[in-house]
Amino acid sequence: MSHASAAEVSGPTPFGNTYDGLPVERYTLTGGKITVRLMNRGATITEVLAPDRAQNLADVVLGFDNIAGYESEANQYFGCTTGRVCNRIANARFTLDGRQYQLADNSAPNHLHGGGKRSLDKVVWQGEKLVTPRGTAVRFTYLSPEGEEGYPGNLKLATTYILGDDGALWIEWEATTDKPTPVNLTNHSYFNLAGAGSGTVLDHEVTLYADRYTPVDANLIPTGKIEAVTGTVLDFTTAKRIGERIEQLTNTPTKGYDHNFVVMQGKQLPAAVAKVREPKSGRVLTVFSTQPGLQFYTGNFLTGQAGKGGKPYVYRGGFCLETQHFPDSVNQPTFPTIILKPGETYRQTCVYMFSAE
Ligand code: BGC
Repeated sequence: MSHASAAEVSGPTPFGNTYDGLPVERYTLTGGKITVRLMNRGATITEVLAPDRAQNLADVVLGFDNIAGYESEANQYFGCTTGRVCNRIANARFTLDGRQYQLADNSAPNHLHGGGKRSLDKVVWQGEKLVTPRGTAVRFTYLSPEGEEGYPGNLKLATTYILGDDGALWIEWEATTDKPTPVNLTNHSYFNLAGAGSGTVLDHEVTLYADRYTPVDANLIPTGKIEAVTGTVLDFTTAKRIGERIEQLTNTPTKGYDHNFVVMQGKQLPAAVAKVREPKSGRVLTVFSTQPGLQFYTGNFLTGQAGKGGKPYVYRGGFCLETQHFPDSVNQPTFPTIILKPGETYRQTCVYMFSAE
């Protein structure tokens, strides 16, 4: 996996206006055989064209053709940068330095993916093209003011997308703050390696480089325990079809796979955390990360909503591999901390690498 790139970037091109009248723009990164489209609303991946083993291209991420789609109820965080704190915070509150912070309970009773109207997926970031020593890139920056969605501190954010010639899309996050504040960023792309809108992902074969997970209660909040996956339907330490055992989870609170795995991180970061292969097309997605957790979610809340080209995103029609810190870390003293302090720089990386075999 190389970081250097001769990828090209074009744009910005207009992608309509938000409901509030803000202009939304898209950028296109082309490198090797891969094309990636990004938009400044939510620093979002809107398109990934990737070849199968016969070099046929398909768009492998769920999304919409226009901004109205992204602003509609049908959008379940497709492709966005998720935060300030992704995943769930129990009862939508936490205490930091003796003060209690109340957040939006947008997944009642919990807080989900950074909150209500001004979570990071919904605001318009500032986009720029840049050539970094590592390659051609698009960087989105955003200053989240003190108190936005109830969080302390002015948080200065950057999400940078760099495309290598080898099919690797690097996502690099940076943040600084002027007050201690929780930060847990991820990308929320839903993949279907047979092509977005081509049915369920149940035939995809998944390997997770994770031997433990954080069990949850009926509200999908971690119990605080860390348990082995051995002997459970969560054991993906060797490749398994998603559909092989998913029915055993249908009548549980997660309704399918929707679990945080504790990844086995080597010394070399970013480390490989997951590999997914779609057998018909031969497309493969390998995910690398610098973070200790990986939320594997199989689109159990997709309802058949119409996406790009009017294609339906059926129940279990996409999967997410969200590299992140553990859910509810802010209320779980035994989990790795997500508190960022003034003077520190938050830095995390996720790589989505596309290939075919
Ligand atoms: C969560 C799911 C949630 C989905 C919303 C995922 O990250 O794990 O529980 O329903 O996001 O789109």
